[in-house]
Parts: sequence; C-alpha cells; structure tokens
Amino acid sequence: MKKVLIDCDPGIDDALALALAAGSRDALDLVGVTTVGGNVDLPLTTANALALREFLDLGDVPVTPGSAGALLRHTVRADHVHGASGLGAVVLPAPVREPSEGHAVDFIVDALRAAPGEITLVAVGPLTNLALAVRREPRIVEWARDLVIMGGSYTRGNHNPAAEFNMLADPEAAAIVFGAGWTVTMIGLDVTLTAVVNAAVLDRMRPLGRLAELLVTGAQSYMAVTAEGGPAIHDACAVAYTLDPSLFTCVPAVVDVETAGLYTRGMTVVDFDLAGREPNALVATSLDVPGFWDLVIGAYERLAARLR
Ligand code: BDR
Ligand code: CA
Repeated sequence: MKKVLIDCDPGIDDALALALAAGSRDALDLVGVTTVGGNVDLPLTTANALALREFLDLGDVPVTPGSAGALLRHTVRADHVHGASGLGAVVLPAPVREPSEGHAVDFIVDALRAAPGEITLVAVGPLTNLALAVRREPRIVEWARDLVIMGGSYTRGNHNPAAEFNMLADPEAAAIVFGAGWTVTMIGLDVTLTAVVNAAVLDRMRPLGRLAELLVTGAQSYMAVTAEGGPAIHDACAVAYTLDPSLFTCVPAVVDVETAGLYTRGMTVVDFDLAGREPNALVATSLDVPGFWDLVIGAYERLAARLR
C-alpha cells in the first residue's frame, strides 16, 4: 500500500484525480489532502476539496488549507477554464464537515516527519505549499518517498506559449521545489495533453451512476474550453503515475524554472543533455494512453460500485 499526500487546487481535473485516488484504495493510502489557491481562490479550492471528500467517500482523510497566494507574484487564476466555483457545471452537496485546524505546510512537514521514507507527495496545483514546506523543514527532501508533480512541459505552455499554469501561477515556488535537492517526477503537458476525455472515454464514464455526475458533467464543462477532441485530465496523470509508473516513460533531466523572463516566466527549461550534471528531475515523455484509461476507468468503476 502506497501512502500518498495530495496537494491540490480543485479544479475539475484535480477532482478527477481525487476520484482516481478514491477508487484505488486497495493500492493507495491517502494520508491527507492539502489545498492551495490556484485554479480559483483558496476558500473555493478548500470548499471543493471538502465537498469531494464527502462525495467520494474519502472518510476521515484530513483536508488542510494552505497558501492563498503565490510567494511573490500577483494572483493568476484559471476560472476561465474551471468556472467560477472551480468545478465547472458540477454542483456537489455542501460539505458537512470542516477542514482540519492548522496550515497545510505544517501538515505536510508533520506527516513526512512522522513517516520518513513512506509518503509520496503528489502536487497538482501551484507549488507554493511545497516550497514553504521545504523552507520550513529542509529535511522533508529526505523524508519524502517521492515527489510527483503535474506541471511544466518541455514542448509548450498552456496558459501562454511558454508556461504551464501551475508553474506560471507561482514560478518562484516551482524554482524552490525543483532546486531543493530531491528528484522531482515531472508529469507535464507533454504527456497530460494525451490523456484526453474523448467520446469513447465519456461513454465509459456515463454508466457510473452518481459518480458520472462529477465525471461527465465535469469533463463536459472542461471540454467547453479545451476542445481538442476533449479535455485533458492533467492531474489524474500524476496520481496514475503513483499507481503504475510503468504507464509512463520518464527521462532524467535538469529542470530550471524561468522566473525572470519577460515572455517566458514560469517556463520549465528542461535539459536532457546532462553533460555530467546530476539530474534534478525525471521528466515524463510518453504515456500509454489505453493503459491509462483502463487504470482510471477501472478505479472509477470500483468507486461507483461503492457509492451505489
Ligand atoms: C494544470 O493547471 C490547472 O488548471 C489544472 O488543474 C492542472 O493542475 C494544467 O495546466
Ligand atoms: Ca490542478
């Protein structure tokens, strides 16, 4: 059983990533969900995480709010992609239970300290919480079993031609995280843009009862703005990596984050030519897309059966 802590900004694809975790509890022990301001403001990402905890039957998994804004930059949001609520046209029942007391940064540090070598961090929003956690307790770099992020790319951006949203939203935080001394597994746009909810995938989601209200409605409202054969569920790829890394090809690289560029702020500069340097990242370069969907839909089917 792999212990996983998910730092997120739900976010439609964040919600679908949490659903993947919820449907994989035979393989994955979700030790906590922390939230960050990203796609929408922190109160909304936290409210969405709380609503998802109950809707997805995640039990007592603590939901702890973290950083509202980037370390240095003015706020960048993606509500034009995820809707004003962050979940598009999806309306979940209002959560009954409250978030945990305290701050996500402390939760992350304490969780890793309590279980050194055991917890995989999965970060699918701006990296503000993780950067602050590294600054607060640099030993988390040794305590984390692994760090998997959805973010960046070596080919193109999405928020602008150079930068992927999670990197652009807090480039200094991303630079801190990539420079911290651990190996960052970077699941970037290069592969996540192949994880597209096309018509065939939608057909596999439709019979899933109550869960389909989240999956299908979410994907369809996401599709409205990323219509290249359907929306890419970026964040679910990072969770899929923790479940089955063999679905991905990953290549060692040195990754730097541009923090000064006029047109390239937030760009991940990925150098596969190590030339004797130590890599700081494993960069995903390909995804077995049919295998990905089998994994994801299988988990959704198990979850749907449980929710019935
Ligand atoms: C990333 O940006 C956000 O809008 C998504 O939730 C995902 O984490 C994709 O670039
Ligand atoms: Ca996200």
